[in-house]
Amino acid sequence: MVACSERLAASPVATWEGVSGQMNISVIGTGYVGLVTGAVFADLGNEVICVDTDAEKIKMLNAGKMPIYEPGLEEMVHRSIDDSRIAFTTDLGHAVRSSEVIFIAVGTPPGPNGEPDLTHVIDVARGIARHIDKYKVVVNKSTVPIGTGNLVREMIEKNKQRDADFDVVSNPEFLREGSAINDTLYPDRIIIGAPSQTVAMKLLELYAPLERPMLITDVTSAEIIKYASNAFLSAKISFINAIATLCEEAGGDVLQVAKGMGYDRRIGEHFLQAGLGFGGSCFGKDLKALIHTCSKLGCDGRLFESALAINDTQPVRFVNRLKAVLDSLEGHKIAVLGLAFKPNTDDMRDAKSIDVISRLLAEGATVQAYDPIAMDNCRKIFPQITYCENPYQAAEGASALLLVTEWNEFRFLNFEKIKEAMKRPVIFDGRNMYDPQRMRRLGFDYYCIGRAANHARQT
Ligand code: UDX
Repeated sequence: MVACSERLAASPVATWEGVSGQMNISVIGTGYVGLVTGAVFADLGNEVICVDTDAEKIKMLNAGKMPIYEPGLEEMVHRSIDDSRIAFTTDLGHAVRSSEVIFIAVGTPPGPNGEPDLTHVIDVARGIARHIDKYKVVVNKSTVPIGTGNLVREMIEKNKQRDADFDVVSNPEFLREGSAINDTLYPDRIIIGAPSQTVAMKLLELYAPLERPMLITDVTSAEIIKYASNAFLSAKISFINAIATLCEEAGGDVLQVAKGMGYDRRIGEHFLQAGLGFGGSCFGKDLKALIHTCSKLGCDGRLFESALAINDTQPVRFVNRLKAVLDSLEGHKIAVLGLAFKPNTDDMRDAKSIDVISRLLAEGATVQAYDPIAMDNCRKIFPQITYCENPYQAAEGASALLLVTEWNEFRFLNFEKIKEAMKRPVIFDGRNMYDPQRMRRLGFDYYCIGRAANHARQT
């Protein structure tokens, strides 16, 4: 049964005081989504068991060490470890038997043609089937292709070894890295895709303390909401990047254009920052998955294909412009500031720096890079480049400095010192972080995204 939740959203059905008691829950997978979900539910007073097949990771978590960098996470987990509300284990059976609600939050990496690889989800479904002993609500939190809810249900039904009932719910996650705790505590909305209202109520009860808007819908619609939201946001970024290119050619300023557009409440000011494009573990992967689903179902996926194509073009244009300024990149030292896919994370997945650095190296340049926290992760991808202790060391002898990730600490650099260190005072700002006039005053050749064809324009 599908229920409209407007009424629920306006007045939450339960308050924290009204909830009958804390629940026993399990979260399978301790990646970004799983770990943060587990930490938040434990912090809300539930008994949480987090499961992972990676024994090293579990050992680390039991010792209170976080495998990812996320503001506030470590303190939150420590609190729950101290109060014995959270446990980490590799024992899926114990977790399944001990829980009323089981969240699946394992990775769904992209396969060769964009279709998400569901191996981990299927393994977990089989594991649940092996150990299920009484009624459970199985909740899919991983971003999974449309129809996976049914697949999980079938897998458990086919493989279960005892006569136990269960339901499968889709509860997509919208948290962002860097603000994951806050996003989980204060989500814009909670989507519950359930086969019946009785099942939805279980999740509603669990989320009630957050007092956020909730939409109860069917499983398939919930799965589509996740893809549609991420595709919309990626398309918004690619849209402004296409406009940025137009601004460069026509002599406009994309910052002004985005501001002018954003005042229209139907458009909104968010996700209109032109730059090198989107990276990270979600947007690219989800767009590819959506394109794949469209082609499978015979739907028109061209809008999504364009969003992806524009995003792929941004670093190509960036490096080509640099090449045009320096004539050739052969033998040049290039400073790269910022490696993570966005600020406040050490995550390098699909980071634009990978694209930019690969192209620089292919053109014969040497790279001197600096990032506040992502250098260790980047070393695994590019062992051959030089990692520096600070931005000034990265600028030493460089023919150009490329700003790739807009960490706040890059905002307040001593540019006199940077200029002195550089061989040529050329700055390529891939995130529109600096003021072109100021850069010009300081004596730099300054290039950015969508603010006139070169540095010579007034802003
Ligand atoms: C995203 C979604 O926001 C989140 O809801 C979903 O659950 C997971 O994917 P995340 O990947 O953590 O979250 O990062 P986000 O802050 O959304 O940024 C994604 C990328 O877009 C970054 O590379 C960022 O630099 C880029 N971006 C964002 C832009 O280029 N311009 C913008 O205006 C906004």
